[in-house]
Amino acid sequence: MQNIKQISALETFPVRHPVLRANKSIDSCHFDGDNLKATIHFGLLDQNNLIGVISIFEAKNDLFTAEKQFQIRGMAVLKEYQKKGFGKKLICNSEKHCSDQNVNLIWFNARKEAIRFYEKMGYQVKGSPFEIKGVGEHVIMFKKMNCE
Ligand SMILES: CC(C)(COP(=O)(O)OP(=O)(O)OC[C@H]1O[C@@H](n2cnc3c(N)ncnc32)[C@H](O)[C@@H]1OP(=O)(O)O)[C@@H](O)C(=O)NCCC(=O)NCCS
Repeated sequence: MQNIKQISALETFPVRHPVLRANKSIDSCHFDGDNLKATIHFGLLDQNNLIGVISIFEAKNDLFTAEKQFQIRGMAVLKEYQKKGFGKKLICNSEKHCSDQNVNLIWFNARKEAIRFYEKMGYQVKGSPFEIKGVGEHVIMFKKMNCE
C-alpha cells in the first residue's frame, strides 16, 4: 500500500542522495531554499518505506510571464521502484497542491534522461539544453496550470 505525505527537507535525503547525488557528499543533497516556509516536500511511502520524493519551491523564472510560478526540484524515485507509476503519482499530487495554491505555471530544470517522462505528464521543453555543473545536461520544462 502506498501513500504520499508531507515530509521535511532532511527526510528527502535518503532518496535524493542515491538517485540524484550518487557519489557526492550528503551535503550536496541540500538545495537553497529547502527550509523556506513556502517550500514543500512530499514523500511517497510503500509499506511505510520512503521510495520517492519531490519538492516544490515558490520561484519565478523570467522566461515566463505567469504571475504565480512554482518550481519542482529533487524529483526522484529509488531505482528498484522506477517505471512502476510512482513518479506519476508524485507529479499528480504536486500539481494538485499547486492548483490548490492557485499557481499559474510549474517549471523546472529537467535532466535530459527524464524529458520523456515529463512530456508524458504534459510538460513542454522551453529553450535549449544547458549544463548544470557536476549534475549534467538539463532543459527547462513547464506546464501552464490555467489560462493566463
Ligand atoms: C524520472 C523519474 C522520477 C520517473 O519516475 P518513475 O516512477 O520511474 O516514472 P513512472 O513509472 O511514474 O512513469 C510514468 C510514465 O513515464 C515513463 N517513463 C518514466 N521514466 C522514463 C524515462 N526516463 N524515459 C522515458 N519514459 C519514462 C514510464 O514508462 C511511464 O510511461 P507510461 O505511462 O506510458 O507507462 C524516475 O525514473 C527517477 O527518479 N529517475 C532518476 C532521477 C531523475 O532523473 N529525476 C528527474 C530529475 S529532473
